[in-house]
Amino acid sequence: MEAIPSLGTRALTNRQAPWDSFDAEAYFKHTYRSLVADDRQVLAAVRDHFAAHFARHPSSDGLRGLDVGAGTNLYPALAMLPWCGSITLFERAISNVRWLRSAVQNYGDSWDAFWEVLCSQPVYRAVTDPRTRLAGAAKVVRGDLFTDLPQGAADIGTMFFVAESLSAARVEYRGAIDHFAAALRPGAPFALAFMEGSRGYDVGDVTFPACEIERSDVLEAFRDYAADGLEVSHIDVPGSQPLRDGYTGVMVALGRIR
Ligand SMILES: C[S@@+](CC[C@H](N)C(=O)[O-])C[C@H]1O[C@@H](n2cnc3c(N)ncnc32)[C@H](O)[C@@H]1O
Repeated sequence: MEAIPSLGTRALTNRQAPWDSFDAEAYFKHTYRSLVADDRQVLAAVRDHFAAHFARHPSSDGLRGLDVGAGTNLYPALAMLPWCGSITLFERAISNVRWLRSAVQNYGDSWDAFWEVLCSQPVYRAVTDPRTRLAGAAKVVRGDLFTDLPQGAADIGTMFFVAESLSAARVEYRGAIDHFAAALRPGAPFALAFMEGSRGYDVGDVTFPACEIERSDVLEAFRDYAADGLEVSHIDVPGSQPLRDGYTGVMVALGRIR
């Protein structure tokens, strides 16, 4: 097992990084104020995965959803909305927790474009008022995914741009997947998104660590957790306008827990 990188001038481990200085507003504006091509592709893939899963395994609309490291991204929660009575938005940074608590009460207009993408599947169109529905379902919980995630408590889960974007240490990338998988009950469908080839990223004027991963790292991390049928796909960065600096692409993992 790889050792955690030693202390340096730059944060490398999850504990070293200044999460409470994560500039929620700057991240939201840079990343989610408008819907760009790679998020559109990610969202469409997740939409089709969840819709196909629940077509095969019908359920009530009272499931317990979980989005780990929610940041200022509401689209994973929106993607789980038709099936969920509650959705826990689990987040470490107090700045993001405050942003989420306010945003979920009546989410802003920019999320309508994301909801529209989801609505090409009828199960999403059947949710007549997603704003009110999310406000009723969302529970924002502050915590550390390495120590505070309840085990086996979620029926459906997402974790977007978190496992590889919280530390430079490969052992923590793997640990984040281990804890995410343990938080879901057997059979639960999941969707994760990853930055490929990222070595760190800036939010406002603060740099956060990342672990450089590729597709084989995602397959390897899920080997013990995913039921047959895990899909890990690659989404190319549109050449003209990369959304997030310093990465080579986005990967999406879609599956269900064994
Ligand atoms: C790159 S951001 C991704 C945010 C969001 N999921 C998205 O799709 O844009 C990484 C997120 O992981 C959160 N995070 C970092 N370490 C964490 C930990 N130990 N437990 C829970 N969340 C953590 C950060 O606060 C931040 O919101």
